[in-house]
Amino acid sequence: MRSEYCGLIDESLMGQDVTVCGWVNRRRDHGGVIFIDLRDREGLLQVVIDPDTPEVFATAESVRNEYVLQVKGKVRERPEGTVNPDLKSGKIEVLGLELTILNAAETPPFQQDDEDVSEEHRLKYRYVDLRRPEMQQRMQIRAKVTGFLRRFLEEQGFLDIETPMLTKATPEGARDYLVPSRTHPGSFFALPQSPQLFKQLLMMSGMDRYYQIVRCFRDEDLRADRQPEFTQLDIETSFLEEDQIMSIMEDMMRELFVHVLEEPLHDPFPRMTYADAMERFGSDKPDLRIPLELVDIGDLMSKVEFKVFSGPANDPAGRVVALRLPKGAELSRKDIDGYTEYVGRYGAKGLAYIKVNDLSAGANGLQSPILKFLPDEVAMEIMQRTGAEDGDLVFFGADKTHIVNESLGALRVKLGHDRGLVERGWRPVWIVDFPMFEWDEKENRWQALHHPFTAPNVSDPAQLHENPGQTLSRAYDMVLNGTELGGGSIRIHNPEMQREVFKLLDIPDEEAENKFGFLMQALKYGCPPHGGIAFGLDRLIMLMTGSKSIRDVMAFPKTQTAACLLTDAPAEVSDKQLHELNIRIRRQG
Ligand code: AMO
Ligand code: AMP
Repeated sequence: MRSEYCGLIDESLMGQDVTVCGWVNRRRDHGGVIFIDLRDREGLLQVVIDPDTPEVFATAESVRNEYVLQVKGKVRERPEGTVNPDLKSGKIEVLGLELTILNAAETPPFQQDDEDVSEEHRLKYRYVDLRRPEMQQRMQIRAKVTGFLRRFLEEQGFLDIETPMLTKATPEGARDYLVPSRTHPGSFFALPQSPQLFKQLLMMSGMDRYYQIVRCFRDEDLRADRQPEFTQLDIETSFLEEDQIMSIMEDMMRELFVHVLEEPLHDPFPRMTYADAMERFGSDKPDLRIPLELVDIGDLMSKVEFKVFSGPANDPAGRVVALRLPKGAELSRKDIDGYTEYVGRYGAKGLAYIKVNDLSAGANGLQSPILKFLPDEVAMEIMQRTGAEDGDLVFFGADKTHIVNESLGALRVKLGHDRGLVERGWRPVWIVDFPMFEWDEKENRWQALHHPFTAPNVSDPAQLHENPGQTLSRAYDMVLNGTELGGGSIRIHNPEMQREVFKLLDIPDEEAENKFGFLMQALKYGCPPHGGIAFGLDRLIMLMTGSKSIRDVMAFPKTQTAACLLTDAPAEVSDKQLHELNIRIRRQG
């Protein structure tokens, strides 16, 4: 049907006969001549229809946007002054000699170049939306990325092995998507939150190096970088330590960025401990492009009269920090109120601040409603510790540590964006030395910071038992520009240690046996030391294409409420199907 892609024809084909197929991007009638911009995957081509060929001309007059055409014609130079330097085909046009309408199209639900179309509308007509050059390019980059990753991993000896989709729950911290079993009435499969346990079993099977580009399912609250079904690049290896795994993964990322974007990444990636990241950035996925840091001032605040500060400063579970914003004194009252409201969303009860007008005047050169509560020496010591200069503004957060970290950590990122402080380029970082467990205040028990199969950095279960709160894990996260791209760890390969972790997590023996009995069995029959990692492929491609949301790099994503507007899923099913599945729907109300 065609000899070339529209978007790839250029002056090298000058004078030649070509056959192209594509969609009508636009038709323009100009003084007796018709121009059709024909579009395909590779780009646009200008087709010219001359009135000298009346039959072709008549057909051309009848075409509308998004008609699918086949055009046979001759490549010729564009007249002077009509060259379009933005197109590969911008120096030429095709004189159309034969035109076939392969299919007509109704007026599309929205115009390709309409910027104001709602996302719902785009998702409902996703096949039209995907025709946009921007979406075409994202899908092409996505394919280029997965192609490269497969080649890289295969060269490194990784085997692509599939794992079941109908399986048993794997705990990754989200709710499961369940699938009822017809043959086992009352029983359910869970769709995998990740292939975690299967990839560990593959190491016990001697596969040595595994990878899979695999769909994972998590029923959790959705955000810009979370979808209910998403894709992981999932990896597991035997007989490697964390440094070796991290080094292969870094090489993979560096080569990927050069291959796809021609951009170098740091070599090696810097590493930061979890404790350091929380202290300086209030987050375990710090965006290192933003040059703002939290500074602890609890020691200075422990004796002040202002309870808002001295309370948390004297509470072992509390934290008091300062955050210096260079040139922040120019913020208006309204700006500051806006930021106060913003940190409130993260649970902060307020957002105290000091404006730095003139440091040479000492505390008299500072301006703030809270100064009356602070001795001059304390105020000046804070200025020194934060490195404040004239014209700056210093924000304060005081509360339970997690509230301060979440609220001021988020404020740091917001200020970075609002104030144009985000540096250009890529800032990867490994976060290491995570705690094994986090104390869950609400449920009054330990929670695994990663998953319960992550190895602690002690080899004796008794040691872990004695000090679960202080023990670090052998986990590592790869963070890029403030996004957690991937996470992994060395795994537990000793059944006693695994049992101890279940015990600390308050998983009763019976439940552990019920849920993970097969793993406990397998650990007994010759399990090699092993470890791995999984990357969020959608997030990686979101960053590489500069997209705002992972929905923009998935062909058919779901909405924020986990629905597919295109197919109208999820949907009700027939009574017959329910009956076969032994399910009765409880109607609300
Ligand atoms: P984790 O739960 O950290 O680890 O997931 C790995 C990576 O997957 C991405 N990701 C998501 N992307 C889009 N939507 C989601 N809902 C979503 N949830 C996670 C993130 C994350 O870093 N089995 C372990 C890995 C291991 O230990 O090897 C796991 O799944 O980028
Ligand atoms: P108040 O005494 O409640 O009027 O607070 C005085 C200043 O401290 C105001 O600017 C508040 O926004 C701020 N503030 C109150 N609580 C906190 C807090 N937990 N952390 C930081 N600033 C706070």
